[in-house]
This record gives sequence, C-alpha cells and structure tokens, in this order.
Amino acid sequence: MDAGHHEGRPDAVATDIEGHLTPVTEEVTAFDLPVSGRVPAELNGRYLRIGPNALGIEDPAAHHWMHGEGMIHGVRLRDGRAEWYRNRWVRSDAVRAKLGEPLRRVRPAHGTDFACNTHIIGHAGHVLALTEGGASPQDIGHELQTLGPSPLGGSAPGFTLAAHTKLDPRTGQLHSLGYLAGHASVRHTVLDPDGALVGVRDLPMPGSPMVHDFALTEAHLVLYDVPVTYQPEALGRGATMPFAWDPRHPARVGVVPRGSGDVRWFEVTPCFVSHTLAYEENGLLVVDVVTLPDGFDIAAMRADGYGALDRWTIDLRAGTLHEQRLDDRPQEFPRVGESMVSRRHRYGYSAATAALYRRYVPFEGPPPDAAFDNALIKHDLLRGTSELHRFGRDAAVGEAVFVPAGAPPALPAADGEDDGYLLAYVHSPERGAADLVILSAQDFTGAPLARVHLPRRIPLGLHGSWLPDS
Ligand SMILES: [Fe+2]
Repeated sequence: MDAGHHEGRPDAVATDIEGHLTPVTEEVTAFDLPVSGRVPAELNGRYLRIGPNALGIEDPAAHHWMHGEGMIHGVRLRDGRAEWYRNRWVRSDAVRAKLGEPLRRVRPAHGTDFACNTHIIGHAGHVLALTEGGASPQDIGHELQTLGPSPLGGSAPGFTLAAHTKLDPRTGQLHSLGYLAGHASVRHTVLDPDGALVGVRDLPMPGSPMVHDFALTEAHLVLYDVPVTYQPEALGRGATMPFAWDPRHPARVGVVPRGSGDVRWFEVTPCFVSHTLAYEENGLLVVDVVTLPDGFDIAAMRADGYGALDRWTIDLRAGTLHEQRLDDRPQEFPRVGESMVSRRHRYGYSAATAALYRRYVPFEGPPPDAAFDNALIKHDLLRGTSELHRFGRDAAVGEAVFVPAGAPPALPAADGEDDGYLLAYVHSPERGAADLVILSAQDFTGAPLARVHLPRRIPLGLHGSWLPDS
C-alpha cells in the first residue's frame, strides 16, 4: 500500500509527472470501504475513471504524461455501501511484459496495441477503455481486468472508436470520430444500441490535426480542425509528442449533417479545442468549448494563457459563427448528464484547473481569481451564473460525472436536468489518499452527501463514467 505524494517514485522522473500527476506503482484491491456521510442507496453500479499512469519509464526526458499506460480506478457502490475499490492497468502486451505476465497468443497489429488511457465508457454490454489516434479499444471486465481488443467499432486499423464518443440519448446510437495521425480524413462511425456497426463514412480533414473531441447535436456533427497537427519530425527536435502548433494551419469548425452531406467550415480565432458540449435549436448550433490559446504547445503543455470556457454560436442560415467567452477562469472537463448529450443543456459541470495550470502553463500573474482552485464548477448556462464547490488547499479534483437520481434512462424534463449526483475522485491531503466524493447536483455548494475513503492516492487522470447495474 502506498500513501502520500512521494511513494514509489522512480529515481528520476519527467517533470510532467510530478505532484498530483505522479503515477502509483501498485494495483490494489480493498473491500467495504469506510464512508463519511451516506452513499445514496439508489447508486448501484460502478464509477470508473481512467488516466495515464506510466509503468517503468525508460527515458523520463522523452516521456509525455499523456502517453503513460492507462490505469482504471473503480469503486463499486451497492445498497448504500462502497463494496470495493480497485485500480488496474489496462493490459497491452507491453504492459504484460513489464508486469511479467504471459503475452497474448495472437500478436496484435502493429500500432494498435496500446494500454488505452483516455476514456472508459459502457455500451451494448461492453465496458470499453478508449484512446484516440488508432489504438484498439479494450474490453474491460467487471473487476477491471482487460479482456482483450473490443470487437465494437469495426476492425479497420487505426480508425476504430476514438477517445471521445457521444451517445445519443434519443436513439441509443453511439457516435465516434476516429482518426489516424498522418491521414487526411477522419472516420465517423455509428454503432446501434446493440453495438452493431450501422454507419461508417470518412470526412475530409487535411493537414492531420489532432482531433481530440467533437460534438453531436440533434441533426449534426461538429468537427474541430485546429492548428495542433501531426509533426513527427518534432520528436527529432526533442519534443515528447509528435503533435505541435502549426501557425499556417487554419482554426475552423466544421458542421456536417449526421447522415450524409458535405462539411461546412467556419473560421474561429486560432486556438486548440479540448472538450465540448453542444446542441442546436431553430437553425442555431450552440457549442460550448474549452479552448487553449494561440500557440498552445501540447508537448510542453505550455501556452500564453489557460483553458477557459467559450461559446460558439453558429447560424447555419446566415453562415456566421459568433464567439463569446462564457467563463474566464481556468477549467477543463466540461460534462453534462449523459441524457443531455446533443440536447439543449442548461447545466454544465467542469473542474477548476488553476493548480494544474500554475504548474504547467506559466502565464503572467495570478489567474483571474487566485482563490479559485481545487474546485468543481456548476454552470447555469441559462442564467449565466455559476457555483463553486471548493475542496480546499492541496486537494485535487478532476472530471466529475453526473448521475441522474431515480431510474435511468428516461429523458429528464428541463427542470429536472440537475436532479442527481456528481461523482469525482478528490485528493484528501489530510489522509494522503483519495476520496470518492458524492455531491448533490442541486445542493452543489452544500456538504458532500458522502466521501468514500479510498486506501490510496489516485493521480489526476482523464475521463470516466458511471456504469449502473441495470
Ligand atoms: Fe478528453
């Protein structure tokens, strides 16, 4: 068991995996976890979150945090109890070799075997660990064991499901926009609720930009073509990632009908787009995005500024795009409840990232609100207001996932959109370990409903899902 910030640290580590990003070095299992407060009895399922957790870094100077082998952290809740916590590396053959485990009998195709580290979702009875850029999704078992490459998403090398997918709550169809570095197109894939491949088409994307996320509205896909492009020669210049800012590459947003048709492009101020929410109404597409400023260096994680929340309103009839800053505070990982994806959302939840940005993005002066740190944000995008839930100095919180109260998966009425819970891992500096914190989304600033005390530290990671038993 490890505890604190410095456990198991190799002799030399890259500067981008220190502090709250420092990997943990063991897989552990713990049962009947202690809880402060009360776990809502209706939360029956698993909260899973994944992130890079490097295993045996050979050359720290050449290592990028985002390339670490994926590790899943999961908590099982049932009948008001926290039954277990587990953390498991996703098994690629490289991970198996490092852990001294037998390799797969069938060798994976070159370039497709990676310990997925970016997102973990459920679809059609599968739990999928996902990464963008060509690696095969991995099927994950109930106790977080890697079952093998997933059959979902088709077998085309490099164009399988991407890191970010969008589940349409009306149709149950899962949309993905996959890409392969160096190719001049992206692949739109649609799976039906049973996992069958019901749509595949390639959309033009010249210049090979990084395509981390996209948006789904009722009738359209929204694509981001931004100036962080595939530049493998950057590795020869000492970069830790083959993607770099290209000032000659356009910054633009593409809108294409879900089914067929051409992409319409709209220019935007140069930026990198990380995560996004969207809907459409009366010919207007409303796209809420976290953007990083002109010149963002993804390898060094440096920019002259930080990621903040913008709204782009696209008028399809007039052919215009209007840019507006919604919240000028450092933040990331905006989410809505899964039943609100592609529908008009009133609420969005994001994680304050001032601490992370102070370390990795040395912008001039303090962030706009120096006290704004270690917090989750609830945006009321109808009223233009927000609430903060602060976790205190030296806490660290990443993405929060909304879980609806009551029986899923009915589409909530507009006034019930925030009737539910937010789940997130939060570092507890007092214990030197993480808690699974459960907030009431409607009493956002109130005391947490529950803190499930986990036996170990959890590094800041990326994305996750609530996987209900039903
Ligand atoms: Fe992401």
